[in-house]
Parts: sequence; C-alpha cells; structure tokens
Amino acid sequence: MKKLLMLVVVSIVFVVVATGCGKKEEAAGNAKDGKVLTVGTSADFQPFEYIDTAKSDEIIGFDVDLINHIAKELGYKVQMKDMPFESLVTSVKSGTLDVALAGISVDEERLKEVDFTDVYFHANNLLIVNKESGIKKPEDLKGKKVGAQTGSVQETKGKELKETIDFTLETRDRVPDLIQELKSDRLDAVILEEVASGGYLKKFAELEGNIISEKDESGFAIALPKGDDKIQEFNRVLKKMKEDGTYDKLVEKWFNS
Ligand code: ARG
Repeated sequence: MKKLLMLVVVSIVFVVVATGCGKKEEAAGNAKDGKVLTVGTSADFQPFEYIDTAKSDEIIGFDVDLINHIAKELGYKVQMKDMPFESLVTSVKSGTLDVALAGISVDEERLKEVDFTDVYFHANNLLIVNKESGIKKPEDLKGKKVGAQTGSVQETKGKELKETIDFTLETRDRVPDLIQELKSDRLDAVILEEVASGGYLKKFAELEGNIISEKDESGFAIALPKGDDKIQEFNRVLKKMKEDGTYDKLVEKWFNS
C-alpha cells in the first residue's frame, strides 16, 4: 500500500515537473523567435525582388529592404517565400501568407480579396520589343504574339487592348521567361512595368521599350488580409520612411545604380 502511494506521488510530481518544464521551454521559444511575418513574393522582378544567382540564393531587392525595415520597426521577423505571382493574393486571403509584397499594383479585383497599404511606388507600363520589329505602339500589335506575366495587371492590360486590336495574348509565370521568349522571337512583344524592364533593356541592346500607360494608372502597395489592423502600423512606418529619408535611400540604392 505504501509502495503504491509512493508510486502515485512520484508520478504526480513527475507529471507536474514535466509539464512545467514544457511550458517554460515554449515561452522561451516564443520570446527568442519573436513574431514572424510570412511574406510571399515572386522573386522575378528586378530590382524589387529577385535572386542574384551568381552571388547567392537569397531574395533581395527594394521590396525586401522595405519589408525588413517595416518589420524591424514593428518588432517582427520576416520569412520570405517565393511563389508564382498569380498565387500571392489568394494566399494572403486564405491565410497561408501574412503579407504579399511583389510590386503588386492596387486594382479593383484584388481589393475584393485583400486590403492594401498606402501606395509606395508608381510605374509606367512598357511594350518591350525587338528593335528591328518596328513595333512602337499597341496598334502595331495586330496579328502578333504578346506576352505578359500570369495574373498581373499587364495581363489585364493585354486583355483590354485585345478588345480593339487583334493579337494573341500569352502568359508565363516568370518574367525572365517572357524576356527569353521575346529574344528568341517566340513572342513579338512583352508588356512589363518600366522599372522592372530597366535591367533587361540595359543588358540586351537589341530590345527597346515604349510607354503604353502612364504612372498614375497603377501604384504598388503591400497586400494584407482584409481588415488586418497591421495595415495602420505598416502605413505609419511607410510615412515615417518617406519623412526621414529612409525611403529615398532605398530608391537610390536600387534604382540609381
Ligand atoms: N505590378 C504588376 C501587378 O501588380 C506586376 C507585378 C509583378 N511582380 C512580380 N514580382 N513579378 O500585376
């Protein structure tokens, strides 16, 4: 009887100690890791988000610096996830991502699914072509093959243009594939934002870009789940970055070099 009692007491002590330790460890773990923001991007959009494969497999760029700064100010750690551009907005909606940041333009369709921070960048759309093609403006696209990134506002722009001009619209998941196919004449033109075209136009002298829509048509912003109160905090930091010169430094670092 005594032995049995002893065993019960020992077991209870063991259970209490064990669960106590477990809890302590958990708490320490949380404190150490901080709050983690899972940030989705499509790392094919230099200089906003891309991988410089010659140097490392890390995602770098203007957007990456931007979110790291915001996260640091607000006490978050960032975990970047590379995925097809097309799935970013739905992944924020479904909760797979906390945030999507990929030069994402605010547009009506997306606003039905997610909320956006204030706009942090404005961009023109370009029609990128091979110089010798003679294509200068949308009207020249008649009978041609035009490419755009799947799920992008450039795809939407292409659909819009197609209503009045008769061409074939093709989409690809990744921007570098579009450029590759343009260079090898499988595509006659690619619709892409000016800021993301600069690198290609510099590198490939046979390509040229002509503006087909103006800056104020689209602005980039960060997508978060509908009603997420982090949006106000993000906006506060964005505003501060513009005021204290942090934003200009990032522009200088990524666009003027
Ligand atoms: N601004 C365009 C859009 O929102 C294209 C963005 C593409 N971004 C990227 N990381 N590939 O549809």
